[in-house]
Amino acid sequence: MPLPGDRSYPVLVGRDVAVDLATHLPGAGVRAGRAAVVTQEGIPLSVDPGVDHRVFTIPDGESAKTLSTLEGLCRSFAEWGLTRGDVVVGVGGGVVTDVAGFAAASYHRGVPVVHVATTLLAQVDAAIGGKTGVNLPEGKNLVGAFWQPSLVLCDTAALDTLPEREMRCGLGEVAKYHFLGGPAPEERALDDLSLDQRVARCVEIKAAVVAADEREGGRRAILNYGHTLGHAIETTGRYDLRHGEAVAIGLVYAAELGRALGRIDADRVAEHRRIVEGYDLPTRLPDGADADELLAVMARDKKALDGLTFVLDGVLDSGPDGASRGHGVEVVSDVDSEMVRSVLETVR
Ligand code: GLY
Repeated sequence: MPLPGDRSYPVLVGRDVAVDLATHLPGAGVRAGRAAVVTQEGIPLSVDPGVDHRVFTIPDGESAKTLSTLEGLCRSFAEWGLTRGDVVVGVGGGVVTDVAGFAAASYHRGVPVVHVATTLLAQVDAAIGGKTGVNLPEGKNLVGAFWQPSLVLCDTAALDTLPEREMRCGLGEVAKYHFLGGPAPEERALDDLSLDQRVARCVEIKAAVVAADEREGGRRAILNYGHTLGHAIETTGRYDLRHGEAVAIGLVYAAELGRALGRIDADRVAEHRRIVEGYDLPTRLPDGADADELLAVMARDKKALDGLTFVLDGVLDSGPDGASRGHGVEVVSDVDSEMVRSVLETVR
């Protein structure tokens, strides 16, 4: 993950990469006295950091992403006497990397953190790029910090036993990367890659976006492709859909909206549908979805500073030789609400 100064860090992807955590730590410049391993019950991976360590278990599920979990964790760190000369190692999915990362960012005003990502969602998204935080009753991720890890290990062997619905959680993000990353002519499209290669390619795409805009001043927002409607579907709390499934519907919707706005053509919309269906993810809103409610939630989206805001695909300007440079996504603000509403009908 390239970052300015000496803050770049390795992201290692592959089967059993976590087995060698003890050798990867010094390799990544982490010279810790002790390690606080933060994980959850049921995470199918235990790690050996090669130094004196203690395991701290936080509760399961998104509902564990709270200030009280954070307080409990930091108090346990204090009881054990964790110092800035030590390291926090988060082992798990996005909840663990968000909470462990935020605890590391804030305890003693900052302790190094390493993420061992065990779910597809964490490997292609949550563990990469330094976003950490917890939820409030008023909204998700409302309290947090940017705190870059020193090392990320994406152990793809952990995916063998990942429950199918957890897998679908990450596949929606993987589908998103099909539209963010190129490919450059000499690269193979994500379709042609094995799962391990695909995870590695998603990490590369995310790393390039974060390197250009670490603190989300602009370009990083493109990582939210498919998320405006996706988040709205999740926020209503009415539908039995995982994050990746909601994002999948949001991707098809964003393509249809892009087409309605004249930014892309029918073939490109069909490409979105093909990719999403290829991951066996939904392309349609759940039965009875309420357009008024979805519109109201999208209008409250914390990224919607200037009217209804979406990340949308479009044809890039042609180069000096007049040849098209393909497609790319960008943030589009102030989209007409009647258009937003009528395009919802294309995904019913
Ligand atoms: N998950 C979006 C981001 O890391 O910016």
